[in-house]
Amino acid sequence: MVLNALRHLRADRQARAGLAHLTADRPRRPADGELLLESVGLTKSYAGADGELPVLSGIDLQIRAGEVVALLGKSGSGKSTLLRCLAGLVPASSGRVAYRGSPLTGANPGTAMVFQTFALLPWLTVQQNVELGLEAKGVPAAERTDAARQAIDLIGLDGFESAYPKELSGGMRQRVGFARALVVEPDVLMMDEPFSALDVLTAENLRGELMELWESGQFPTRAIVLVTHNIEEAVLMADRIVVLGARPYGTIREVFEVGLERPRDRNSPAFEDLIDRVYRTMTGRQKEGRVPGRHEALELEKRTPANTPLPPASVDGLSGLAEMVLDRGGRCDLADLADELGLEVDDLLPQVDALDLLGFTTLSGDDLLLTDTGTAFAGADVQESKKIFAEAVQHAPLVTLITKSLRNNSGGTRRAGFFRDLLAHHFTDEQVTRQLETATDWGRYAELYSYDAEPQEYHLDENDDTRLAVTAAGQG
Ligand SMILES: Nc1ncnc2c1ncn2[C@@H]1O[C@H](COP(=O)(O)OP(=O)(O)OP(=O)(O)O)[C@@H](O)[C@H]1O
Ligand SMILES: [Mg+2]
Repeated sequence: MVLNALRHLRADRQARAGLAHLTADRPRRPADGELLLESVGLTKSYAGADGELPVLSGIDLQIRAGEVVALLGKSGSGKSTLLRCLAGLVPASSGRVAYRGSPLTGANPGTAMVFQTFALLPWLTVQQNVELGLEAKGVPAAERTDAARQAIDLIGLDGFESAYPKELSGGMRQRVGFARALVVEPDVLMMDEPFSALDVLTAENLRGELMELWESGQFPTRAIVLVTHNIEEAVLMADRIVVLGARPYGTIREVFEVGLERPRDRNSPAFEDLIDRVYRTMTGRQKEGRVPGRHEALELEKRTPANTPLPPASVDGLSGLAEMVLDRGGRCDLADLADELGLEVDDLLPQVDALDLLGFTTLSGDDLLLTDTGTAFAGADVQESKKIFAEAVQHAPLVTLITKSLRNNSGGTRRAGFFRDLLAHHFTDEQVTRQLETATDWGRYAELYSYDAEPQEYHLDENDDTRLAVTAAGQG
């Protein structure tokens, strides 16, 4: 009842404010459950140096009115690509994407996008930035002004109309991003990690306000598709969570119906249980844990910098986690550990991935277990731990690539740009930068190579050969 009254009020306000044209050419608002957006057998590849790079394969997805859908997956699993395909910003390689039954031929007329980086034009005011969305739709100037004011008001930016983006905090900038998307009253609001560039409190606040608006019925859109790599954010906001798997290319790994009452209680057992289940799916581990040994050795052979990206975990961070597990007897429940530290399980994922990649831990159900090498590493003094790390880091293909290529060069030196170019065939600029940062940190700690930020060069560590000889002798 209250919701209906609110909707009615809003329609009335819109008519007066000049937004009527936006709804007028849409015969009616779609009813809950109505199919808005659909992909069938969606496949997407990008052209790379070594041929086509498959990113998404066989994605069947439906977005219906009244729902919030989260696309969740690790970096590189194709979340942004999927969102862009649904928005008609990039074409599918095969399969089809349809909006209200009509296959897309270009930008989707029923969607608007909010970007992680805000993507505002710095030379335009808040008001002008918000009007951009309407301009693109050919709305006359007078109507644009009113509609933009209303969207600005709705999203809590009242009073900032004439400010420029550089005068605003990150949170306020993202509000402009929201207003610019909402002003066109898209059927489906698409958001690509909209909160991840904001500090924790700002993100939390904006998330809360957005969901309040959504639930109040004042929201001028009928469905939300949210890209995130944050499990808790997905469980907090979504009605349905679509988990994308990363290797060898993005497929839908599992779909979770959330079904929890809103506003959601983070501390409820149901909430925590769902987080655990999603976490297990994301990490690809089964309840029973996996069998290490021959199987793993084989997997190791096939690792390349392209199929095994380095997780963004520093040596300090991953050692810290290993030590904590050691303090707890070499085995501990990840969710409990995160809780103790006042963190979310997500925050630990890069470190867990790193420990796993290096062969220091395995996961069994929700428990993180130190392997023998992991136990030795966590308990060692600095010199000893460097030695163990230098052995283990051979499991990190990018570190091996850098080391080998430095050894092959008579001067023992190579420009970072060389590795950057190699990786650029497989990853975005941001991913390349993050991975090189990790590789630099790991390689330095293992004393394999060093890095000079100016002139951006890697150098073979002088003791490299001596150290390897010592390690080899120690093994024999
Ligand atoms: N324009 C492009 N050209 C070539 N490859 C691309 C392009 N955009 C993305 N890719 C590749 O496609 C894969 C998926 O990228 P995408 O950005 O969709 O992943 P994501 O899940 O959004 O990752 P993140 O969490 O880092 O944002 C990556 O391997 C990426 O390098
Ligand atoms: Mg992305």
